[in-house]
Amino acid sequence: MKNKILCLGIESSCDETSAAVVDSDKNILSHIIYSQEQEHAKFGGVVPELAARSHILALQSVIERALADAGKTIDDMDVIAATAGPGLIGGVIVGWMGAVGIANSTGKPLVAVNHLEGHALTPRLTEDIEFPYLLFLASGGHTQILLVMGVGNYELIGTTIDDAAGECYDKVAKMLGLGYPGGPAVDAAAQLGDANTYKFPRPLCDKPGCDFSFSGMKTSARNILDKCRGVLHTPAGASIAPLQNEFVNNFCASFQSAVVDVIINRLQNAIDITKNKKPTALVVAGGVAKNLAIRSSLEKLAHESGLKFVAPPMDLCTDNGAMIAWAGIENFRLGKIVDAPVAPRPRWSLTEL
Ligand code: KG4
Ligand code: ZN
Repeated sequence: MKNKILCLGIESSCDETSAAVVDSDKNILSHIIYSQEQEHAKFGGVVPELAARSHILALQSVIERALADAGKTIDDMDVIAATAGPGLIGGVIVGWMGAVGIANSTGKPLVAVNHLEGHALTPRLTEDIEFPYLLFLASGGHTQILLVMGVGNYELIGTTIDDAAGECYDKVAKMLGLGYPGGPAVDAAAQLGDANTYKFPRPLCDKPGCDFSFSGMKTSARNILDKCRGVLHTPAGASIAPLQNEFVNNFCASFQSAVVDVIINRLQNAIDITKNKKPTALVVAGGVAKNLAIRSSLEKLAHESGLKFVAPPMDLCTDNGAMIAWAGIENFRLGKIVDAPVAPRPRWSLTEL
């Protein structure tokens, strides 16, 4: 095998059409992300059918631009990698079948990347970190604590028993009329508010283990909001965000402080439980890893626990083609390439790898 591997990575599992060229020396030669955020904003969330059609329209030019920006052609690639799941199946089919077409017509090897593995291995693209490491993976669809033992080797330590953290942020934002995606808006408002104003529950914090529950927090948010509507003289269903900035800031700060408390409580348990496996670092990944309050609390926890803390740069936290290219390289090195047709999958747990 050649020393340096060049990989084209393709991502299309949610609302980003992305392609990147990455090499095995951890250089991101190009990285194109076409975000459909604006297209879905008016619906308050991702519309799967719309997302799939938008991926079809964008995919070819995103790939062509990624190759052009890298100064490469498809013939220069050693391997093609694309998300084969989990995710919104329409989008996954578009990206995956596109990759299959490229691989078949060029004879290049193909890696079927698990999207979650893309997030999970990103810290190894941006830093030199060794296995095993403890991973907090939090996105719009997943909230899990995993012990990453190696490529394709994951131990599930904790998971949400209902909603994902990012989904909870998005729903709370929707209640407040803050638009989509909600996480960044709630995060920004929270930084301006007083976290002691409203009392949110800390689900499962009184229980042992490392599982999460976020559905109760959504209900609490709804209840607190309904109670406050009378005081704010805002009719049910009306958007309160433009009218009541101070209320929104305090509400978001109180909500976010509960989320942070829950995450730290669960991660503390995970660190205790996995101590004998000697993780080298505490790593955070996924879209929610963009949250500065969550990042800084996890960093403090890591240092108190004698662990290195690793968080990917902001643009590699949300969905992107570079993480898929890197996961492609890590799998390719181990010979994990597609040798028979692979069906795209809406669900695909890391522990099945
Ligand atoms: O990983 P990702 O791009 O897509 C999925 O695979 O789901 O994560 C998107 C999620 C959304 O729910 C979004 O609201 C959330 O990440 N998010 C945040 C922040 N930035 C993005 N959540 C909290 N605080 C943020 N700053
Ligand atoms: Zn993701």
